[in-house]
Amino acid sequence: MQERLKELQQEALEGVNKATGLKQLNDIRVSYLGKKGPITEVLKGMGKLSAEERPVMGALANEVRDAISAAIEEKQKLLEQAEIEEKLAKETIDVTLPGRPITQGNHHPLTSLIEEIEDLFIGMGYTIAEGPEVEQDYYNFEALNLPKGHPARDMQDSFYITEETLLRTHTSPVQARTMERNEEKGPIKIICPGKVYRRDNDDATHSHQFMQIEGLVIDENIRMSDLKGTLDVFAKKIFGEDREIRLRPSFFPFTEPSVEMDISCKICGGAGCSVCKGTGWIEILGAGMVHPNVLEMAGYDSKKYTGFAFGMGPERIAMLKYGVDDIRHFYTNDIRFLKQFAKHE
Ligand code: PHE
Repeated sequence: MQERLKELQQEALEGVNKATGLKQLNDIRVSYLGKKGPITEVLKGMGKLSAEERPVMGALANEVRDAISAAIEEKQKLLEQAEIEEKLAKETIDVTLPGRPITQGNHHPLTSLIEEIEDLFIGMGYTIAEGPEVEQDYYNFEALNLPKGHPARDMQDSFYITEETLLRTHTSPVQARTMERNEEKGPIKIICPGKVYRRDNDDATHSHQFMQIEGLVIDENIRMSDLKGTLDVFAKKIFGEDREIRLRPSFFPFTEPSVEMDISCKICGGAGCSVCKGTGWIEILGAGMVHPNVLEMAGYDSKKYTGFAFGMGPERIAMLKYGVDDIRHFYTNDIRFLKQFAKHE
């Protein structure tokens, strides 16, 4: 019996020694020290021993057990340690590696310009208005003094959706909508940025979809000089204090009188160059005094109220301001183009 116990101890310790994993070690523990293990089995034979032998054998059995558990415990510590070390080695993060740079986006140049123009007008007491891009023929044309069949409708080639709806050709319908919506039929001071659509073939200066910013001021005693003063402030703030403006007579069915505004050419300083086509002036926007018919159709008393309106194209303004030679750059979104307008580095 004694020998058998020694043998078991020997065997178990060898097993522990060879064990390479915690699971294997646990299997050894269960098989040698468990209730069904060989040591328990040997001890069952103690009944056959004499009274003197029994305590000696009992003590030996305990010794063997203790030796095996001590060996297991020690090996377990070693294996656990090795496991941690392996994990650390495998999962090390090199905190000294340089990080990946985060590329920062920037506003589209048109968005920035529109915001700049909005800020300017908000500073002069205007509010921002908006209207639908899919517009009724009534607001796009009729309410603007352009009845069906009016020849001036041809000034703006349209995308019709049904007989009565189209993609708006300008932001002027927002004038009609804002006046109509105003229940007191009192003063108005709005600007309206938005997309407009025309059946044009796209080229360096034309796009089937572009943007406009409409302005409308309605009050008692609004005069042409108010329009001129407003546009002068606008031109100087957006293009530079050294710019002059010039109003030329023009025609729009919804304004009377109507004008087109030019700014002095900065490139040649007025001497004439290819940008201003030799004139020294560059056309920037259309404007005029709101036609009495437009006021009356929206329910305003045109004897009491007058107003002015203007409509400008931010693309054209951006092209002149930043020296962009093709309107399509604003829509094709080449990152190399857009990055030039980043305000940060
Ligand atoms: N709606 C006109 C256009 O698109 C511009 C304009 C607006 C003219 C307001 C006069 C007054 O050409």
